Amino acid sequence: MSGIYIHIPFCKKACIYCDFHFSTSRNYSEIIDSILTEIQLNQKKIKKNKISTIYFGGGTPSIIDNKLMDKLIKSITENHDIEKECEVTIEANPDDITIKKLKSWKDIGFNRLSLGVQTFDETSLKILNRTHNKDQALKAIQNIQKEFNNYSIDIMFGTPGSNIKTLKNDINYIKKIKPPHISIYSLDIEEETPLHKLIRRRKIELPSNNVVSKQFDLINKSMDEMNYINYEISSFCKKGFKSKHNSNYWCNENYIGYGPGAHSYDKKYRYWNVRDNKEYVNRINNRKSYFESEKLTNTQKINEFIITRIRTMEGINNLELKNLNGICLFKEKDKEIKYLKDESLIDVKENRIILTNRGKKIVDNIIEKISF
Ligand SMILES: C[S@@+](CC[C@H](N)C(=O)[O-])C[C@H]1O[C@@H](n2cnc3c(N)ncnc32)[C@H](O)[C@@H]1O
Ligand code: SF4
Repeated sequence: MSGIYIHIPFCKKACIYCDFHFSTSRNYSEIIDSILTEIQLNQKKIKKNKISTIYFGGGTPSIIDNKLMDKLIKSITENHDIEKECEVTIEANPDDITIKKLKSWKDIGFNRLSLGVQTFDETSLKILNRTHNKDQALKAIQNIQKEFNNYSIDIMFGTPGSNIKTLKNDINYIKKIKPPHISIYSLDIEEETPLHKLIRRRKIELPSNNVVSKQFDLINKSMDEMNYINYEISSFCKKGFKSKHNSNYWCNENYIGYGPGAHSYDKKYRYWNVRDNKEYVNRINNRKSYFESEKLTNTQKINEFIITRIRTMEGINNLELKNLNGICLFKEKDKEIKYLKDESLIDVKENRIILTNRGKKIVDNIIEKISF
């Protein structure tokens, strides 16, 4: 099983927290042409396994004209061996959603949609510089429910303007909407984003650690009461609606990334495309190399396994790690595992290390303790 990721590097506006690669220019067709060329060039020569998932992410794929999206999907289909039941996802922003657009996405092959709502709180949406308001988000969801049964909503917490009350309000909307899948992210403050600069200059305030910790507890409690499966720290779904694409990442499967800034992985090498739209077009058009790569050492492979698996409901399977990389975590990290268990940050069940809800809050610290 392998996945394909296509990066669409355009947005209408810059959200203040965002560190993903995007430009607010509008030369869409030039980039799409270069992505089409990249698909044909396949310079990375990643073994062409059967493709079980295709994911258009961004940036904002929903701003691209459907004729161009159709060309991309056709080219992927012609150049890869696609499974019949392939999951094909598009990331969308609420202000781009119309019934016409939804129908035509289905026509060209999309069968899953991920909507970036972030919050239903008007003040927070404005602070974050989102392009949509609450009513647009609600209308978009109403329309999506008519056309797609497999869809997801992105929500963030710990953002400027958010508190327990705004989160309770968001949870009440989730209760009414009942989406089959939700990703709920704790805000990461990324260096050199407008948010980072605003915080440094004391122009914007974040909720305290105590409030963010309470928000986290409230999310887990509420999602559990609504019978969502918390199959990865930030991912919740109803039975049968796991994101296959993201699950592939967490299960160490190969993926091929197309587009500026996109990453690829084939278990031996990691590849990353140049993260600059103009440079990407220039290099592709002149048949120059447009990516860098790195051969993974055994230690990097082990750490990769630990970092991805610890986030999942199944946790780290020590037997699998032993078979793959010859490392017994229980032997090598005996003291650390005992400490984390005593602190109720992890559970150890048979051969697995699984995060507790307490542990999920400080996953990065836990990774630091048990990686190499
Ligand atoms: C790269 S965005 C693309 C989706 C779409 N453009 C949008 O904004 O709705 C995917 C998701 O990542 C999350 N995200 C982006 N920046 C983040 C940050 N700094 N911290 C936590 N989550 C973030 C948001 O929830 C967003 O919906
Ligand atoms: S969060 Fe989404 S819409 Fe906002 S800048 Fe990032 S990619 Fe663009």
